[in-house]
Amino acid sequence: MNAIDLTDVSKSYGEVRAVSGLNLAMEPGRTVALLGPNGAGKSTTINMLLGLTRPTSGQVRIFGRAPGEAVAAGEIGAMLQEGALIPELTVRELVDFVRRLYPAPLPLDDVLRMADLTGLASRRAGALSGGQAQRVRFALAVAGAPKLLVLDEPTAAMDVESRRAFWQSMRAYASLGRTVLFATHYLEEADENSDRVIVVARGRVVADGTAAQIKAGAGGSSVSFSLGGQSAAGLDALPGVTAVEIDSGAEGTARLVTADVDATVDALYRKTTLQVRDLRVRGAALEDAFLALTRSAEN
Ligand SMILES: Nc1ncnc2c1ncn2[C@@H]1O[C@H](COP(=O)(O)OP(=O)(O)O)[C@@H](O)[C@H]1O
Ligand SMILES: [Mg+2]
Repeated sequence: MNAIDLTDVSKSYGEVRAVSGLNLAMEPGRTVALLGPNGAGKSTTINMLLGLTRPTSGQVRIFGRAPGEAVAAGEIGAMLQEGALIPELTVRELVDFVRRLYPAPLPLDDVLRMADLTGLASRRAGALSGGQAQRVRFALAVAGAPKLLVLDEPTAAMDVESRRAFWQSMRAYASLGRTVLFATHYLEEADENSDRVIVVARGRVVADGTAAQIKAGAGGSSVSFSLGGQSAAGLDALPGVTAVEIDSGAEGTARLVTADVDATVDALYRKTTLQVRDLRVRGAALEDAFLALTRSAEN
C-alpha cells in the first residue's frame, strides 16, 4: 500500500489555482523532496495531505485512508512553516506532553537525542533561538513515531551548521524505515537528502525522479575541448549532441551540449579525425535543471 496517493488533486483559492491536477504515488520507506519556487503549491499540497485543507477536486489518501483518519490514528507527524511553541513549558515537558497524545510514541530520551535536544531539555521554549525552536518542532513531529513524517521548509530559519545537524536527524528518523516528505526551495537540500525529487511549479509536477535523472532530463551535460585551429564541421551530427557552441578565443574551445556523454565522447575520438585536447565533461547542475524546468512550466 502506498504511503501517499494523490489522484488528480486540484485546489483553488478564488481565482488562484494553487495546485492543478496533481497525481502522485509515494511508496513507504522513501524520502521524497517536493522541490519548487515560492508559490509553487508545496504548502497547499502538504496542507491537503494533513487534512488541514480540502482539495477543490480529486482524492487524497494516506496509507489508504482519508487524511483525517490517518492523523487521528497517529500515522502522520508534521512540521509546518508556522507553529508556535508554548513558551512557559520546558523542552522536555513540551515533547513529553505531545508524545503522550499518541498511541505508541517513541521513548522521550530517544526523541530528545534524535533532535539533538538532550542538552536543552530543561530550557523553557520561550528562551530558545530560532534554530533550536525548529529542532523542538522536529521533535514534536517525530514524538508519536509517525509512519509518515511531513516537513514544510524545515530549515528556513536555520544557519548552515544547524541545517547540517537537522538533516542528520531527519535521516536518522528515515533510517528507521519511516516515510518522509519534505518541501524545500533549496536544490542542494533536495539533492543531498532525498531519494526522489518531485519538482513542482505553478501547482503542477514538472519533473519526478532521482536528482541525477532530473539533471539528465533538463538539458543534459556538456563536453568541451580545445579545437585549436581545426574545423568544427560535423560536430553537431555526433550522437547525443543537441547544440554546439564555438568560443572563438585563442584556444577555440568547442562546447557540445549532449544528452549522452558516453556516446558523444566515444564518437569524438573514434569517428572524427580531430586532435582532441583538454577534454572536459560537465554534468548539468541541478540548479540549471530546476531553472529550465520551472521556466518551461511558466510558458
Ligand atoms: N489561503 C490562501 N488564500 C489564497 N491564496 C493562497 C492561500 N494559500 C496559498 N495561496 C496561493 O496559492 C499559491 C501556492 O501557495 P503555496 O502552496 O503556499 O506555495 P509554496 O508553499 O510552494 O510557496 C500561491 O499563489 C499562494 O499565493
Ligand atoms: Mg510554502
